[in-house]
Amino acid sequence: MHVGIIMDGNGRWATSRGLARLVGHKRGAGRVKDIVKNSPQLGVTTLTLYAFSTENWKRAAHEVEGLMKLFRGYMQNNLLELHEKNVRVRFLGDASALAQDIRSQMEHLADLTKDNSGLNLNIAINYGGRDEIVRATRSIASKVLDGTLSLDDISEDTICGHLDTREQADPDLIIRTAGELRLSNFMTWQSAYSEFMFPNVSWPDFTFEVYQKCLGEFTGRVRQYGAIDSK
Ligand code: IPE
Ligand code: IPE
Ligand code: MG
Repeated sequence: MHVGIIMDGNGRWATSRGLARLVGHKRGAGRVKDIVKNSPQLGVTTLTLYAFSTENWKRAAHEVEGLMKLFRGYMQNNLLELHEKNVRVRFLGDASALAQDIRSQMEHLADLTKDNSGLNLNIAINYGGRDEIVRATRSIASKVLDGTLSLDDISEDTICGHLDTREQADPDLIIRTAGELRLSNFMTWQSAYSEFMFPNVSWPDFTFEVYQKCLGEFTGRVRQYGAIDSK
């Protein structure tokens, strides 16, 4: 089972307490560790966390810099534990816009854990579903141009195979915390048949219990993919 989480509400969590937005991001980063650790026992085999969107560059420079610092810290502090816990880490998004040292950390973490067979953890940084489709389109088009792919052979599978999530199943469930009812450019292609859940807590308050409740509720959903119940 693949769960995607749009980790929203860090800023509001902080400002409602009279704290700086970055304090909320820090608390949010603390939640990630717990949620990752507890995913396998809930039957989650792939977890995708939306950490920074292609639109998040529009925020104040100090907030963006603070978030980048948190990514560095997260990777540094969790590298060994993730590996020990058999987690395979992959990154979604356009890494080319990120600082070189962050990219090196990402490459190292992905490389170190590439043969792990436990939880698949995708971290989406500078990720946008539309940007991902644009990049996939470019790479498909270049194969058509150089003759390695014919136009008639382009199928849904071809597109899936050129997205950042290639070889991974679509998310079964997408959870967005903090009350906004939108995708904000998360998994545009992959979410075609995902179930959605909007727990009414900010990301820093997204505890194991809330996570467990979401998954329990998901189990009761009927998914028909356009067919009708044959019973
Ligand atoms: C989500 O929390 C974290 C990121 C987008 C990086 P927000 O920072 O969007 O928090 P709110 O929505 O302003 O409360
Ligand atoms: C979506 O949250 C991005 C992440 C959680 C990383 P935002 O807070 O940026 O989305 P909008 O601005 O409310 O759509
Ligand atoms: Mg937000």
